[in-house]
Amino acid sequence: MRMHKKGHLEERLEACADILTVADLSDKNMKRSALVKEYICFDEIFGNANPARLEIGCGKGKFVCETAKLNPYVNFIACEKISNVLIDACERVKAENIKNVYFLNCAAEVLPRYIKPGSVETIYLNFSNPLPKEGYKKQRLTHPRFLETYRSLLKEGGRIIQKTDDGAFFAFSLESYKQAGYKITEVCEDLKNNPVAGDVETEHEKMFKERGKPIYRIVAEV
Ligand SMILES: C[S@@+](CC[C@H](N)C(=O)[O-])C[C@H]1O[C@@H](n2cnc3c(N)ncnc32)[C@H](O)[C@@H]1O
Repeated sequence: MRMHKKGHLEERLEACADILTVADLSDKNMKRSALVKEYICFDEIFGNANPARLEIGCGKGKFVCETAKLNPYVNFIACEKISNVLIDACERVKAENIKNVYFLNCAAEVLPRYIKPGSVETIYLNFSNPLPKEGYKKQRLTHPRFLETYRSLLKEGGRIIQKTDDGAFFAFSLESYKQAGYKITEVCEDLKNNPVAGDVETEHEKMFKERGKPIYRIVAEV
């Protein structure tokens, strides 16, 4: 489904420039683009040296905004490739004056351009697109090629926390973590009936729960 471009999108993104880095799209080759380094200095943007967590594919930002409010001494970087969606998240952070969230409008593939190796303690993958067709397997955000990238961004002992409603994607991801040498420390096949303290419901999670779908959760450590 094609989404209409929001009105005044460029001006609205510009108004959020202090909490947002928009990726340099001059090179369409993401692999090559990731080799350039323009590291975001977390201490500078947040004005402190608190630990950092990263959400990839944050959508409209409900999860990151609410999680950031629950964890004021943690800094959050939220990545989303579609600016038309991300603008809602940016404007919410501004409206609610949340000081520990910063956004990156880029694809996961180019994160190493902006994020220093070994600088995040947790990566959240919330309801990433399952991309069921075999031909799109390499684009899934838990494909081993992405897990290698995440490993480089994570601190020693860092972890990935993933939630999904898709059983096949859940099974694929479990296999993928193992293949990439991660240690699976938690698996839940029914998060709805086994809630985790401090875990925030995302936009898609709410929708899938209402449709009666199961919610899976995996924690994988490097
Ligand atoms: C199904 S939505 C889930 C949004 C939100 N996390 C939630 O749970 O409500 C998946 C989001 O991931 C984003 N996304 C997909 N592939 C991505 C990539 N390679 N890099 C960054 N974001 C991506 C999509 O644009 C979309 O907003």
